[in-house]
Amino acid sequence: MTDARARLDPHNAIAAIDRRIFGGFVEHLGRHIYDGIFEPGHPEADGHGFRQDVVALVKELGVSTIRYPGGNFVSGYRWEDGVGPKEERPRRLDLAWHSTETNEIGLHEFADWLELVGSDLMLAVNLGTRGTQEALDLLEYANASADTAFTRQRTANGRPDPFGVSMWCLGNEMDGPWQLGHRNADDYGRIASRTAKAMRMLDPGVELVVCGSSASSMPTFGSWERTVLGHTFDDVDFISCHSYYQERGGDAQEFLASGVDMARFIESVVAIADSVAAEKKSDKRIMISFDEWNVWYLHNEDGSESGHEFKGGAWPVAPRLLEDRYHALDAVVFGDLLITLLQHADRVRSASLAQLVNVIAPIMTEPGGPAWKQTTFFPFSITSRLAGDRAVRVPVDAGTVTSERFGEVAAVNAVATIDDEGVSLFLVNRSTEAAASLTVDLAPLVRELGREVSLVESHLLHEDDIYAANSLDDRERVGVRPLADAAVDPTGLRLTLPPVSWAALRLA
Ligand code: AHR
Repeated sequence: MTDARARLDPHNAIAAIDRRIFGGFVEHLGRHIYDGIFEPGHPEADGHGFRQDVVALVKELGVSTIRYPGGNFVSGYRWEDGVGPKEERPRRLDLAWHSTETNEIGLHEFADWLELVGSDLMLAVNLGTRGTQEALDLLEYANASADTAFTRQRTANGRPDPFGVSMWCLGNEMDGPWQLGHRNADDYGRIASRTAKAMRMLDPGVELVVCGSSASSMPTFGSWERTVLGHTFDDVDFISCHSYYQERGGDAQEFLASGVDMARFIESVVAIADSVAAEKKSDKRIMISFDEWNVWYLHNEDGSESGHEFKGGAWPVAPRLLEDRYHALDAVVFGDLLITLLQHADRVRSASLAQLVNVIAPIMTEPGGPAWKQTTFFPFSITSRLAGDRAVRVPVDAGTVTSERFGEVAAVNAVATIDDEGVSLFLVNRSTEAAASLTVDLAPLVRELGREVSLVESHLLHEDDIYAANSLDDRERVGVRPLADAAVDPTGLRLTLPPVSWAALRLA
């Protein structure tokens, strides 16, 4: 057992939290849409084919903005295929995931589903196989209110009012050689700048996200950001970061340091963006849209990539792709990634958990069967629900654990949020061996408030078997429970964090 101390001082403010940090991502990929959120004939489906059990879980998850329709998929997508009478919509080959896209769901249906789940739409345009004109067409169709051919078409398709989409991604992962229409940084920077300028001429209110690197491990990472922002600095509001983590070679301790990697990624991109600002003698600050993050077992043990099982003659509709099963260890790392995003709330103003249903997802479904929560559901839903208006730094002295990549990293990581009703504290114990007996000094908080605080709720995610997971046959194997020994007294908050655990507490 390690003795650990932390200090919760509201003056250690990081920034106001943009709720878009709790965003999600829905791609036309595998069984995400078809046989996921949309399954006509399922006993839980409404008249439009949307599963209400999935709607309820997405609402409980608490996702703010949802990025759509991809991902790699968007780089070959013709948005026009997904609007108009369903019986006239073409079936197309989706080259990104080697599948057949039926186009039963498109912009209108997805916007209807978003109304059911209470989330906002964030759209990506295709800058892979298409360009500025098609991006403008989609923007006009979605957001214009003047009487034009596109707005008449939208009205005829049942939507007289604009969709009013404010956040737009200028393509997806254009640095990746796997991306349809992959470009080098100069070529992408030029088309992104032209497209952004044109989109702003049509709708000056849009917020634009330019593609950063698809991972910090990309060989072009850093120079990509510098070059792309060199072209687009004046045209965009955000640069994207994408990052996926997985345990490799059975090294849980290294995997538990993933939050450190995410923090360095964010801080590096911020440094590059600010150096471009300095070169341009600008006080503009480019924000980060961390619009793909998660645990994803992308690499099989032999080093090959998962999710590409359907190469060859078959082009299935809604195949089972990227259906990772998450265990308790994954959820603890995942919770730490959320803590890391909140610790960078000054620059991370938007983030999208990739993805939501069936595809590397916190929610799983079975055709004709139930929907259930994966382990990662709990840190997301609890953090999204408890996080207040402002993020606050919480320094913790709990010793270190050793990471081969990062050296000595903090064994316990924490962040707090504050709002008018109270304080929320999020904690992770990254050690695979030692529990942490933690005392959080609340004196600065109590002084600031001028009154005592009390513990309202607590949640612990920990399993003695760190590889325990939920499954179709055992849907509630892993969940959260109250922190048994958490208590507040006049000097502070005391609790024990078992090894490999994530916790959240609410103080009022
Ligand atoms: O989220 C799955 C895939 O990961 C997305 O389509 C792509 O953008 C990323 O490489």
